[in-house]
Amino acid sequence: MNIALIGFGKVSYNMVKLIQSPNVKFITSTQDRSKNTIELISQSNVEVVESFNQAIENADIIISANSPAQAVDVAKKYGNTDAIYLDLNNISPKTTDEINALVNNFVDGAIIGKIDSDNPVLYLSGENADKLLFLNEFLNVKIISDRIGDASNLKMLRSTYTKSLSVLLIESYNLAKSSGLEDEFFEVLSLTEGDDFKQKALSRINNTLKSSKRKSEELEEILQYYDSDELEMVKTALNKLKQF
Ligand SMILES: NC(=O)c1ccc[n+]([C@@H]2O[C@H](COP(=O)([O-])OP(=O)(O)OC[C@H]3O[C@@H](n4cnc5c(N)ncnc54)[C@H](OP(=O)(O)O)[C@@H]3O)[C@@H](O)[C@H]2O)c1
Repeated sequence: MNIALIGFGKVSYNMVKLIQSPNVKFITSTQDRSKNTIELISQSNVEVVESFNQAIENADIIISANSPAQAVDVAKKYGNTDAIYLDLNNISPKTTDEINALVNNFVDGAIIGKIDSDNPVLYLSGENADKLLFLNEFLNVKIISDRIGDASNLKMLRSTYTKSLSVLLIESYNLAKSSGLEDEFFEVLSLTEGDDFKQKALSRINNTLKSSKRKSEELEEILQYYDSDELEMVKTALNKLKQF
C-alpha cells in the first residue's frame, strides 16, 4: 500500500515512525520545502520523489498534514484522484466541507493529543473512514460517524474547553504564586483532579504561554465558526491570551 504525504512536519514524521510495516510504503517530496522539512524527511524511512504530483501518482492513500491555511489549496492540487484523501490539519468543519467538495474520497481526520505522545488517538468521520481502520494496528483509531465534519467539529469542541480552561489555569496559578502558595495550590487540586495534575497543569501552562499566538488564532476560529453570542468564556479567554 502506498501512502503519499503532503507536508512533512511533526505529524507526518511521527505517523511514519508509528506505522512501520512491510506492506506500507510512504512517499513524499522535497518540492519547494524548507531546510527543516528536508532534514526531517532524510531522517525517515520514506521514498522521496521529485514532485508531489509524482508522489500521489500511485498512492492508495493521500495524507494532507501541512497547515490549516494550506489545507484547501493542497486539496485543490492533489485531491482529484481515486485515492482515499485524509486531511489531518486543524481546520473547522466549514473548511472540511470545502475540501470535501474538491476531493473524491475524502476522510475527515483529527489527531487528539500531541502526535508525539505515547498514544495519539486518530478520530475519523466520513463514508470512507472504514477504509482506514487498518491503521488501528499502529495507533488508536476511532470512527465516529459517516458524516464529514464530525471529526473536525469534535476537535474544535475539545479546543473550546481545553484552551479556555488553560487560560483560567494560568490566572489561578499566578494568583497562587503571588500568595506564596504555589505547591499547596497543586496539592489541593490534585485531591480532586488526580495525582498527575501538577505535571499536566505545568505542561499545559507552558504550552499555552509558548504558543499563545497560535492558540489565540484557534480561539478566534472557534468564535467565527460557532455562534459567538453563546461563548462568553471563550471571548474572555481570547482577550486574556492576547495579553500573554
Ligand atoms: N503537531 C501536532 O501534534 C498536531 C496535532 C493535530 C493536528 N495537527 C495539524 O496537522 C498539520 C501539520 O502539523 P505539524 O505539526 O506536522 O506541522 P509542522 O511541523 O509545522 O509541518 C508542516 C509541514 O507541512 C509542509 N507544508 C506547508 N505547506 C505545504 C504545501 N503547500 N505543500 C506541501 N507541504 C507543505 C511544511 O513544509 P515547510 O517546512 O517547507 O514549510 C512542513 O513540512 C497542521 O495543520 C496542524 O494543525 C498537528
